[in-house]
Order: sequence, then C-alpha cells, then structure tokens
Amino acid sequence: MRASDLKAWKELSRLARTVLDIPLTDHINSAARFDEFAVTVGPVTFDFSKQYIDAPTLKVLLKLAEERDWKRRTSALFTGDVVNTTEHRPALHTALRAPANAQPPAIGDVVHRELVRAKAFASRIISGEWKGSSGQAITDVVHIGIGGSHLGPELAVTALADHHCSALKMHFVANVDGSAMACVLRHLNPETTLFVIVSKSFTTLETAQNAQAARNWLVERTGSLEAISAHFIAVSSNLEATADFGIAGENTFAIWDWVGGRYSMWSAVGMPVLLALGPQGFQALLDGAHEMDEHFRKSPAEHNAPLLAAVFAIWNYNFLGINNHAVLPYDQRLRLLPNYLQQLETESNGKRVQHDGSPVGVHTMAILWGGDGTTGQHAYHQLLHQGTRAYTADFIVAARPDHDRPDAHRWLIANCLAQSQAMAVGARTDDPHKTVPGNHPTTTIVLDHLSPRSLGNLLAFYEHQVFCQGLIWDINSFDQWGVELGKKLADGLFAKLADDPRVGEDASTQGLLDHFHAELKARKEN
Ligand code: F6P
Repeated sequence: MRASDLKAWKELSRLARTVLDIPLTDHINSAARFDEFAVTVGPVTFDFSKQYIDAPTLKVLLKLAEERDWKRRTSALFTGDVVNTTEHRPALHTALRAPANAQPPAIGDVVHRELVRAKAFASRIISGEWKGSSGQAITDVVHIGIGGSHLGPELAVTALADHHCSALKMHFVANVDGSAMACVLRHLNPETTLFVIVSKSFTTLETAQNAQAARNWLVERTGSLEAISAHFIAVSSNLEATADFGIAGENTFAIWDWVGGRYSMWSAVGMPVLLALGPQGFQALLDGAHEMDEHFRKSPAEHNAPLLAAVFAIWNYNFLGINNHAVLPYDQRLRLLPNYLQQLETESNGKRVQHDGSPVGVHTMAILWGGDGTTGQHAYHQLLHQGTRAYTADFIVAARPDHDRPDAHRWLIANCLAQSQAMAVGARTDDPHKTVPGNHPTTTIVLDHLSPRSLGNLLAFYEHQVFCQGLIWDINSFDQWGVELGKKLADGLFAKLADDPRVGEDASTQGLLDHFHAELKARKEN
C-alpha cells in the first residue's frame, strides 16, 4: 500500500493546513516544549522542540509508523530478516557492534572473530611490532576506498582527532582523479607506509585504479614484489580478488554481503579508525552505537529518538513541502559529517519505487547538504535566513570542548543557538531588506562532548532514522541501483576516449568527446 493511502497520512494532510496557521514561535513558546520534545540517549540529547509540530500532530505521525508496523519491522532488522529485498539480503550492521553474546547466533562468531583479528593487527601496527619491508615501523597509513568504504572511516578519524592514541598519520584516497593519489604519495616513504585497500566488492573502478597505482609505486620504489605483503592489507568480501591482487590471506579482513557499504564502518572497514584510536577507542565507538541500537529497539515510539526524527522528516518533506535538508555541525571536527550523511541518507532513501516495484507516489529523501558552523554563517546562512527556499536543518554541537579556551566554546554554542533561534523566530522590521521570516524547523543535537561513544551513538541514530523513513515510504533503503547506469556509461566512454569516438552518442556528449579528442591530438602534436 502506498504511504499516501494510509489512514494517518490522510489525516496528516488535513492537519498540515492548521499547524501552519500558527507561527513556529507560538508552537515553541509553550512552557513544557523542551521537556515534551527532547530525548536523551546516554551522552546525546536530541532536541526536536524547534520542529514545526504540535502534540496532536505528533500522535498522528506515530500512528503512521504504527500503520507501517515499525516495531515488528525493527525487530526483523535486528534478527536478520531479508530487509534488502532486491538483493535478497539482511542488513545486519547492528550485529557488528553488539556484544558477542547478543548477536544473532550464526553471525556472532564470525563478527567477533574478525573483530579480535582486526584489533590484534592494529595493536601490532601501533606498537611498531609490525615491520615494513626494510625493518622499519609503520608511520603512515593510506586508506584506499570510496563511498561506504571511505566516508565513515575518514569522518571518524577526523572527528576523533583528540582521542587518537597512536602517532600514525592517516591519509585517504577515494577519487579516481590521479591528483588525489599523487598528492598523498608525494610526501610518503614507501618503507614506512601501510596501504589499507577497502572494497566490499573489490571491483569498484576508483579503488581498483588507486590500489594498482599504490602497488606500482611501492614495487617501483622498493624494487621488490615481496614488499607487498608488508605494506598492503585488504578489507573485502571478495577474497579471490584480494588474493589475485597479491594480498596474503592473513592480511585480509572480512566484510560480509549482509552489511551494506554505507553501514560498514563498524567492521574492519573502520581499520583506520582502529589504527588511530586503538582497540579500546574503537570498542567505545562500537559501544556508543550499540547503546543507540538498544534505545531504538526497546524504547516506545514517543521517546524513540530515531523514530521521532524520521517522522519529523516525513512531516517536513511530505506535508510542509520542504525539499532540502542542511546538516550544520557546530564543531570543526565534524566537518565531514554532511558528506557522510549525504551518502547514508540519500543513497539509502533517494528512491522512487516501493518494495514491490510500484511507484512510491510521494516525495522521498530531500537534497542533503551542509557545512560546519560558524564558518557557514559568513557564507550560505544568508540564503537560509532570507532566501526563498524552504528547508530544515540539524545542528550538532558538543556541550564540553576538548580544548582549553572556554570562551571560544561559549561563543560557538552561542552562535549555534542564535542560528536555530533566528531560523525559528526570524525578525519583523519595517524595512523589508532587514526582515527575516523565520518559521524554519530545525533539530539540535547536543553531545556531552565529542568522544568515540557519543559519535557512535550519533551515527547509529542517523542509520535508524534512515531505516524508519524507508519503512514509512515502503522503499528499500539498502540497495543503490541508480548508481549503476553511470558506471556502465563511463565504461563505454572510457573506450571511446581512447579510440574512434564517432559512434552513437547523443549530440551533446559527442560534441564533448570531439573536444577532448581535439585537445589530445593537439597535445600529441606539440
Ligand atoms: O557506487 C556506489 C557504491 O556501490 C556504494 O554503495 C559503495 O559504498 C561504494 O560504491 C563502494 O563499493 P565497494 O566497497 O564495493 O568498493
């Protein structure tokens, strides 16, 4: 059944008209507003009190989730039912962070065994016990992977810089653009560099190209094929391909087809995080995520942070006509969070058909973008305050800093609160140029401080929000068929860029191909 045919959906369409008759300021001014709309889960508080919502509407939104049987489907997610219906797989990322005895039985052993292996490996690198080909310890780690095999690890390594326990320098190469790899390799010594190749499929173009470039560089500089075993490890589910590449079995860590790429950083895919934080820090990240899993699985709807976030998003996107969502971390260390959430939320829920293949019939995921505050205030916040577009935003901020400048942190928090307040309340003046309309719904997420535990908790929150939105729209949040067409077309165009380009492209693309060919020819002639 389409979402728009649900009883609650129809009721919400009626309610949308009346809620918007009252300005957001009036909604947020009731005395109990914060207590009514904020939920704390361990070290993280999710404040939904600036959402454009009232208590009766929330009740109907939760009825919507009930009509979609959210409780039963959540438990199906955790117990390993086939929730990824087009690829016929479970999505068991929650098992990656559950204690060994709390995982589904068949999965628990493999997950636990691999985690123990990964931690032991990381300890050898961190302590310097592991030696490179010339007997020196590793000083630099180059992570090669893209999408779900990159964004989470780079986010966590960057965000948790204050919690690194090792002196290893971390580098990330994702783009097939040769300058990405060149830029990193330029400063490295092959004898003290470890390459971590992360690719679930081990066939992804960008990762394959970059891994090959790294391998050539290493062999050329060390003059030895044997050096590969001391300088390359892989994380993949394609063990045949990792072996063909020359990576020994003992240097290969598993990822499984029942974990989606964008949900995989909790496994050995997070090797750079493990190498930066050490086994204890990585475990704290897993524990933080598990804490949110338990909250999501066990809390009633009205106190369930991910479910609430999901129904507010549905309300905003489907009933208030909002089509874009800004992620605004007020923490420089979380500057990569918008990129990470772009993949998590839009690759998961940027879909147009229901599980049975019929059109979803309503809008699904909005355009997600963002950047860190306060710097964004001096750039695109003008559009947020006085532009013509409707939007919603998430603010993320830590209550406690990890530096010793309390005033700087107070300013940071003051600015964060000022922005969400301005977005909600606005300012009426006689001068239209100075009028700020307000009425924009936002959520503020407050971490006690930015730690492995709070980050794990936060990222798991977003994963479950995505799941809940997907189940209300009845879409498959765990596949990504839309990205395949571009890959196929690029294969054909790659060949045509080398050979005769004059076959069967549209006139626009043909024009561009001719242009590149002319450039190439001119370069050859010079
Ligand atoms: O192209 C999209 C995608 O399939 C993502 O879903 C995935 O995270 C990424 O490519 C990388 O895939 P792999 O880990 O197999 O290299």
